[in-house]
Amino acid sequence: MKTLRLQLRFLLPLFIAIAGAAYLGSDLLDRLTMRWFTRDLNVRGAAIASALTDTVGDALSERRPARLQALFERATKDERLVAMAVCGQDRNPLRRSPGFPAELSCREVEEIARREDPRTIVAGGPVHLGLHEITLENGQRVSVALMHDVSFADVRTQTTRRYLLAFMAALGLLVALITMVVAQLSWRGWMKGARSLLRGEGLLLPPGDGNTAPELEPLAQDLRERLRDLEDEFRRAQGMETSWSPERLRHLLQTQLRGDQVIVVSNREPYIHDRTPTGITVRRPASGLVTAVEPVMRACSGTWIAHGGGTADRENVDAQDRVAVPPGHPDYQLRRIWLTEEEERGYYYGFANEGLWPLCHVAHVRPVFRESDWLQYQAVNQRFADAVVQEARGEDPVVLVQDYHFALLPAMIRARLPRATILTFWHIPWPNPESFSICPWRREILQGMLGSTILGFHTRFHCKNFMETVDRLLEARIEPEHATITYGGAESLIESYPISIEWPTPQTVASWAPVPQCREAVLQRLQLPPQTRLGVGVDRFDYTKGILERFHAVERLLEKYPEWRGRFVFVQVAAPTRSDLEEYQSFQDRIQRVTQRINRRFGQPGYEPVMLLATHHEHEAVNELFRASDFCAVTSLHDGMNLVCKEFVAARDDERGVLILSRFAGAARELREALIVNPYHVEETADAMHRALLMPEPEQRERMASLRTTVQEHNVYRWAGLMLADAGRLRLRDRIQARVQRHGEA
Ligand code: F6P
Repeated sequence: MKTLRLQLRFLLPLFIAIAGAAYLGSDLLDRLTMRWFTRDLNVRGAAIASALTDTVGDALSERRPARLQALFERATKDERLVAMAVCGQDRNPLRRSPGFPAELSCREVEEIARREDPRTIVAGGPVHLGLHEITLENGQRVSVALMHDVSFADVRTQTTRRYLLAFMAALGLLVALITMVVAQLSWRGWMKGARSLLRGEGLLLPPGDGNTAPELEPLAQDLRERLRDLEDEFRRAQGMETSWSPERLRHLLQTQLRGDQVIVVSNREPYIHDRTPTGITVRRPASGLVTAVEPVMRACSGTWIAHGGGTADRENVDAQDRVAVPPGHPDYQLRRIWLTEEEERGYYYGFANEGLWPLCHVAHVRPVFRESDWLQYQAVNQRFADAVVQEARGEDPVVLVQDYHFALLPAMIRARLPRATILTFWHIPWPNPESFSICPWRREILQGMLGSTILGFHTRFHCKNFMETVDRLLEARIEPEHATITYGGAESLIESYPISIEWPTPQTVASWAPVPQCREAVLQRLQLPPQTRLGVGVDRFDYTKGILERFHAVERLLEKYPEWRGRFVFVQVAAPTRSDLEEYQSFQDRIQRVTQRINRRFGQPGYEPVMLLATHHEHEAVNELFRASDFCAVTSLHDGMNLVCKEFVAARDDERGVLILSRFAGAARELREALIVNPYHVEETADAMHRALLMPEPEQRERMASLRTTVQEHNVYRWAGLMLADAGRLRLRDRIQARVQRHGEA
């Protein structure tokens, strides 16, 4: 109905236009036909007059009026020629036929005949008058006045006008009909497209993917942006309503998950026992994963299964290879898995870190895939799956599988514990389908991961890449609007959960030394003059972290802004990692060489602009360094999230200090108030460092306060909470389905 009304709004003016055109057309037609007839009758009249020349001459010379009368009678037998007269040179009528009106003079005929429209009304009917001069044989010049009946012309014009109107009306109807059909079709197509957009179809895919009609693409673009805003607003509002804390997480576990057992699986363990000359020490690894998951485990209790890689780990477990942690005030159990050197080489160094790690990061290091590594990877995943089954107290535990070391684990657990809720979180980026396809065991990896109930990535972009990869490589049903993939009869939810850190409690913050004191302590320890301005970087010593590019930027800063020479020092903490791998060794050597070169170039006695501290630093030392610095540079070439930047923000309760952040780190999507840089653009990073060192305090405060609100709200309890809430929802759905099925069978 609405469509019809809309179409009428368009059709009405169309009809008016056509009627107007028909009206104007018929008027034009009148004038044209009149001209044609006038010309024809003039030509005809001239021919008749010329044909009568001799007869008129004879009749006049012989003065035999009867002859002329007979001529008139013959001539006016023509149905159109109704009367005629012969006029003398003085325009006096010499003779008239019977129908020629006595009151009509030859002069009047001449006048009318000269007009553009030589028609007039005689005896109630329309006639055409013409006056044609002829020269008789004796040289006398006379004129023949001819009166033609033109009522037939009017009849013809009327008929033509009727045809024209009928034609125009038919044309109008045809145009209207075509318009209605086309409008109806395109309206339906448009409505269908708009409705599917509103249902969210195609909104997760990038513009130009061919899913959305081109004319609807601007609308789709707007909707995508609006949805993103709404989601941000929604999440922000959720966070503010009740901020995420260990208590809230515990409450969620008890209510939505009914206190079910939580088991975490990761390669890296949260506490490492090492034998040192002074005895056994407990170390916390430099790992974003551990930083994030450990507080969650403290809140949930449960069991964490990980590789026992410390030199004194075996001496610190019970008969079931378990140790209660954190040491001193235990909250949960750590179950250690022992790996042989061969297993560690193949599964961890080989397949995970020489294969999957460079495959998933765009850092221009080629992945290496060896059959022997793959076999170890499968075997170790199976060993961890066995451990999960051993640790499970019931048939439906909640298992949190962490990272790329365990791509096969979800399906292996699913095979043994079909009712388990398996949440897999992939801590690194997921590449595009082309890049991923170079993995020789690509299908097996995807099949393994799709054993998960929920598969989490840091960003939506990684979710989209994953879905596209599955679409390309497996026969699976993908529903982007629900973010689900159904494979082998089981459904996995593919969702983004941006990971974060534990926001320091007021008690923790109170235990920190004030910022000026931290500065003093750090400068003293590093033997730097009191006024030194400090930039810091804290990373694992990994080629994806952009340390080389960062050093190049420091070099460019000193080159371009010489005022910083002697006054600015960049301190890089680089925790040794995966040093058994050649790629890492050569990268670390290269960084050492670049450090020496820059220091040779800009150093002075007692001053080195770059300090590379390639040793493990405990959290407290890193925190102190963060508090002492003017800026922190996180310049990853590619990073799932990066938690160092969030740790830096959390450390600055004084709301000072500037964060320089790579746009290729997942965190750049949340931490908008940082100075965002492209780490490959050395000039841009150098300028950002210069800007950070000169940034006025009010601007620092404004940026830092906003960053702190974001990280505080989006803390790690929220990360785990959102994931576990989704798990609770799915478990409830499964329980209801099972109940309905039981009733159905009963
Ligand atoms: O970034 C991915 C990640 O698994 C992190 O979660 C963690 O910080 C790191 O890699 C682990 O490195 P490692 O090989 O030293 O355990």
